[in-house]
Amino acid sequence: MGFNIAIDGPAGAGKSTIAKKVAKKLGYIYVDTGAMYRAMALFLLREGVDPENTEVVNEKCKEADITIRYEKEEQVVYLNGENVNAFLRTEQVGNMASVTSANSNVRKKLVELQQKLAANADVVMDGRDIGTCVLPDAEVKVYLTASSKVRAQRRYDELTAKGEVCDIAVIEKDIIERDHQDMTREISPLKQAEDAVLVDSSDMTIEEVVETIMKMTVTGEI
Ligand code: DC
Repeated sequence: MGFNIAIDGPAGAGKSTIAKKVAKKLGYIYVDTGAMYRAMALFLLREGVDPENTEVVNEKCKEADITIRYEKEEQVVYLNGENVNAFLRTEQVGNMASVTSANSNVRKKLVELQQKLAANADVVMDGRDIGTCVLPDAEVKVYLTASSKVRAQRRYDELTAKGEVCDIAVIEKDIIERDHQDMTREISPLKQAEDAVLVDSSDMTIEEVVETIMKMTVTGEI
């Protein structure tokens, strides 16, 4: 078993930015589990699957072969042999992923892949159920959150930097809706693990959050 750091929290809390930086400082592998759920959602979107139809999602998801490779220190997600990284970070795929990630077969398949990755390497893994389900024995567990207003602003900045035209009010509404879906679903809902440390990044800089997690990892202090 490698040394495992689990970072969970709602959409837009800064998990991936923070996890990537911590992984780099420690020389660990960063595992973005949201990207795996997004790749599955992309597959189901392309197949024209109705995400509310549990039976069809249960069956169709078996046809998606999702694998991860590390190329130039970046996580690359392959969907049936195709590098799909460029298609994963749209609002459409994110919204689909929020619905289809509630499916039990989808979760079973992706959790297995995540546990395999963590078994053989030191990882910083981010997601929604890492501390509670995927890596219950992780050495460090963080529940990273921020107010929905701050998270919407961050997502807005990220999208406009990529040249996308978007409306911050719509983004905040989507974030609140996605939080609700992720926190109230039946299987592995988003929640703080009992032994996770709560970090609210609303008024913290990225570096302050990174330092907080580094301190927890290196000294075991909270
Ligand atoms: O972190 P993200 O926005 O890339 O995640 C996309 C969706 O995938 C999110 O709405 C919830 C789901 N997800 C999940 O259910 N479990 C995880 N470990 C990671 C993501």
